[in-house]
Amino acid sequence: MNERETLKINRQGHLEIGGADCVDLAKEFGTPLYVFDERYIRKMMQTYRNAFKNYEGGSCVLYASKAFSCMGIYAIADEEGIGADIVSGGELYTALKAGFPAEKITLHGNNKLRSELELALKSRVGTVVVDSAVEADTLDGIAKTEGIKQSVLLRINPGVEAHTHAYVQTATPDSKFGFPVANGSAKKMAEYILTKKNLVLKGVHCHIGSQIFEKQSFAVAAQKCIAFLAELKNSLGFEAEALNLGGGFGIYYAEGDPVLTPKDYTEFLSTLISSVTEGCKENGLRLPFLNVEPGRSIVGEAGITLYTVGAIKDIAGIKKYLAVDGGMFDNPRYCLYHSKYSAILANRANETPTEYVSIAGKCCESGDLIGDHFNLPKAEIGDIVAVLSTGAYNYSMASNYNRNLIPPVILVKDGKAEYLVKPQTYEDLTRNDIVPSYLKKA
Ligand code: LLP
Repeated sequence: MNERETLKINRQGHLEIGGADCVDLAKEFGTPLYVFDERYIRKMMQTYRNAFKNYEGGSCVLYASKAFSCMGIYAIADEEGIGADIVSGGELYTALKAGFPAEKITLHGNNKLRSELELALKSRVGTVVVDSAVEADTLDGIAKTEGIKQSVLLRINPGVEAHTHAYVQTATPDSKFGFPVANGSAKKMAEYILTKKNLVLKGVHCHIGSQIFEKQSFAVAAQKCIAFLAELKNSLGFEAEALNLGGGFGIYYAEGDPVLTPKDYTEFLSTLISSVTEGCKENGLRLPFLNVEPGRSIVGEAGITLYTVGAIKDIAGIKKYLAVDGGMFDNPRYCLYHSKYSAILANRANETPTEYVSIAGKCCESGDLIGDHFNLPKAEIGDIVAVLSTGAYNYSMASNYNRNLIPPVILVKDGKAEYLVKPQTYEDLTRNDIVPSYLKKA
């Protein structure tokens, strides 16, 4: 376990998160339960914001809320003075409902719906990142109707290889995201946007992928973006004001992953900022207003999931399963990416691990695992399992598969816990179901 301010083992030998005893939390709120440490989230938001304090071109950190979206997280981001990266009408609605300032929102998506673009412009979101020609047309029309000039960025694909899972790489030549710089289509698209009377092209956006640790990949992406901005200036006479370099900074999940501190994230950002500053100098460009969009690194290590062991199956000589009361419906990442996690028995956190087990969920599907090869003390029915670093892309990708309830989310600060998302009920599951009249029993 990556023991730190957020996660500690207390005198009773229980795991503590944000000063709260996980065994008490499990008793009070039940399991499965998502738990977030508010201090960690705030610290990361501050780390990113402070990393830009000496950058002279101006900046705004955008929290990539696809990692974890609910009204409370937008309230925290707003208090910390950062903006939000939003990718759907649902995220937009949630942020606005939480009172998040629309002008600090950047809207993304490779196929935004007309209704999403309309909601965004009616709400006066700050920036829309354009990812298709038809979107530019639609957006221009909506901006005209609204009587506004909408600021936009062009999503480009700089063609940078990032060493991460194929499903979360976004700047490979065959990516569905962005316009490739290499074949000239990014430049053509910039020219096209410049013809739109109701759109104001501010600059470009790129995001090379997620769960990336090499500083060099980010530096190369920044250099390629700057080179593209120079090309736009030289060939079209268009000088960009803004550059959004996306997110993707990695976090610790399990042994083998680097353990990064706020200082390390600051260094990531310094590398990026130096690349931009040097690149602009070399190319005679003014320093652009900069955005980064971290999601995972803000909330990932802030969150854990608590489960109760309900069944144990030891297939002699083959495998031992601990079956918990959650599964792929609250954490589909093992099924999707074979992601690795660390786990600990929260009620016996001091005990020495003695065996390797697989943690299985309760869904009717063999692949429903939280993971394989967890090294734990010999578990018993009723033990509380804490799976660590589940704050990003767990709740946000949860489902009601098998009509299981999505677990509630609590926020812990200095030992006190409050709901961020209250428990679902069976009634919630059937709220929108309709039995057609001809099927109804008389
Ligand atoms: N900006 C853009 C345009 C993105 O597409 C993403 C992530 C981010 C920022 C934030 O990246 P982060 O800092 O969180 O790495 N479901 C996958 C991750 C998908 C990431 C999608 N885009 C997972 O569970 O690993």
